[in-house]
Amino acid sequence: MSGLFITLEGPEGAGKSTNREFLAERLRAQGIEVLLTREPGGTPLAERIRELLLTPSDEPMAADTELLLVFAARAQHLAQVIRPALARGCVVLCDRFTDATYAYQGGGRGLSQARIAVLESFVQGNLRPDLTLVFDLPVEIGLARAAARGRLDRFEQEGRAFFEAVRQTYLRRAGEQPRRYRILNAAQPLSQVQQDLDAMLGHIVELCRG
Ligand code: TMP
Repeated sequence: MSGLFITLEGPEGAGKSTNREFLAERLRAQGIEVLLTREPGGTPLAERIRELLLTPSDEPMAADTELLLVFAARAQHLAQVIRPALARGCVVLCDRFTDATYAYQGGGRGLSQARIAVLESFVQGNLRPDLTLVFDLPVEIGLARAAARGRLDRFEQEGRAFFEAVRQTYLRRAGEQPRRYRILNAAQPLSQVQQDLDAMLGHIVELCRG
């Protein structure tokens, strides 16, 4: 038995957290067993690495350190949570995964995609998401929503150019592999985004049922 691996991606302020709950509820209502998790994080140790990544610090973090921490957290999350859940036949709904590494460390920090791909294969082997939902929205809207939430984390303190590169990387990857990605317009009111998710539900349920 092998489950289904669905990831949710997008910039800050795209409403991923609200929409992941919504989607999980919709799938559970169909009798599908869903495991909801997130990156960086998803296990106690990986959540500690998340703290290192998100907490602003006086010592600048080298881009390579950031990249390795992201993959260290991912290796732990895969071993403890994701792989066992998939092996049980669960649908794993993960808020961010390696597309975020391509977008933030690749696009945002300018690290080479080839180097990220090496680590991706090293840590994941052949495992890739079956479906990735990209919550897309213009950078200004996302940054304004993140600022309205209060104190900014280490990534949220980055400027417009960083987030423009993040957004363009997501859109480029989605364009390159249209079968794996679905793009949602997250600039719309939440109710409309959820209507769009509902419209995709049939396809997602079909994938879940194999
Ligand atoms: P969030 O999950 O609350 O949106 O915050 C996680 C932050 O971590 C977000 O700014 C994106 C960043 N991140 C990376 O830079 N690389 C990654 O691979 C992942 C999973 C997240």
